[in-house]
Amino acid sequence: MEQYVLKGGNPLVGEVTIAGAKNAALGILAAAIMTDDEVVIENVPNVRDTRVLLQAIQGIGARVNYIDEHTVRICGGTINPHADNCVDDEFIRKIRASYYLLGAMLGKYKKSSVALPGGCNIGSRPIDLHIKGFRALGAEVDIHSSMIHVEAERLEGNHIYMDVVSVGATINVMMAAALAEGKTTIENAAKEPHIVDVANFLNSMGANIKGAGTDVIRIRGVEKLHGTEYSIIPDQIEAGTFMVAAAATKGDITIKNVIPKHLEAITSKLKEIGAVVMEYDDSVRVVSNHRLKSTNIKTLPYPGFPTDMQPQMAVILALSEGTSIITESIFENRFKYVDELFRMGGQIKVEGNTAIIDGVEGFVGANVVAPDLRAGAALVIAGLVAEGFTIVDDIKYILRGYEKFDEKIRALGGQIAVVETEKEIQKFKLKVG
Ligand code: EPZ
Repeated sequence: MEQYVLKGGNPLVGEVTIAGAKNAALGILAAAIMTDDEVVIENVPNVRDTRVLLQAIQGIGARVNYIDEHTVRICGGTINPHADNCVDDEFIRKIRASYYLLGAMLGKYKKSSVALPGGCNIGSRPIDLHIKGFRALGAEVDIHSSMIHVEAERLEGNHIYMDVVSVGATINVMMAAALAEGKTTIENAAKEPHIVDVANFLNSMGANIKGAGTDVIRIRGVEKLHGTEYSIIPDQIEAGTFMVAAAATKGDITIKNVIPKHLEAITSKLKEIGAVVMEYDDSVRVVSNHRLKSTNIKTLPYPGFPTDMQPQMAVILALSEGTSIITESIFENRFKYVDELFRMGGQIKVEGNTAIIDGVEGFVGANVVAPDLRAGAALVIAGLVAEGFTIVDDIKYILRGYEKFDEKIRALGGQIAVVETEKEIQKFKLKVG
């Protein structure tokens, strides 16, 4: 089982270039099959989730080839519309986002079957709003033998109110509505940058979507979509992770290939606790050379503080002066890293969806386990700061969403390596001393 081994103490200094946004790429790669023409997508992050989704897309008959590591050509014209294009358990078990193929295939073929996505480590992850949206467009939705079957004679635009702001449901319904007849309005829509990116992608294929990025998205269905070439936006959460790593390690990192506006909530919080954040056209620079201060954070849908940055911020607040409070309002189980940080000396108490954090002077390295993607990244940051050695186990979660994570950290002066055996751990320890 692959692990990270780290030796803490080095400030991270230098430049890092951010990859394409994973959560935009997953919607865009699925939407690419909605035309029979060829689609070329650039700046695709080379992470496990995108590779698995592309396998699922091939699995239903589309032609997929990599032009280079970050550019992929997809042709949905080879999918057999009359086959039961079902996305089976293998893919959905690996990544929930395979369910985006439901909306894409419902829009194009008026039917689709996808294995029911399970919950995951951060919460139950229901899909009732996806189903509500498909039904509102006229689809029959049946769930049996752990599959979701959606089918419609025809899709007709409708007015859909999202009871809860949902990124996935907004993207899935937007895709199906793009090829429905007439007008669809999605109220209380998610406004994340990746929603806007998927809408812009669909519009580049001839869709008619207005208002993405606001809480009301208006879609006029079109007959069909055509090929396009598109480049995915930079990953706001990867950028935020390196911003926090700079501040936590008392370093100085210029994070390149970002859209500073997407990072506003993270920038403002880092400034509030005493880090210096300088914004440029397509980069931000984060500097800190002292112990930071406490603050309070409540995760909210965009443009509020992103839930995907909650664990990373908890690490920095666990080392700050004073007591901080984090309220997780999006997912019901996103504090699983607290027990792991406790092993490193963190003083965090969880009460329901609130974490009360008493800042400590420093961490001591320990063996910890990544409970999920973003908590795993947070534990890596903790290991970069801790005194001594840290082993982070179960890094498969981290590899889902961070491209070349250890390479990027080493290039910034961090002491980290991927190991699989005790021997390799000893070798690392001897090497770094
Ligand atoms: C997306 O998940 C992201 N994943 C998550 O990022 C991110 O944490 C989340 O949005 C919130 O920003 C991808 O984009 C692949 P939601 P998603 O639907 O779409 C409830 C990462 O680290 N809900 O916005 O599944 C749900 O329970 C991952 O990259 C319903 O009640 O999240 C949650 O409380 C982790 N019914 C809230 O909405 C539904 O039908 C927000 O979930 C759907 C969701």
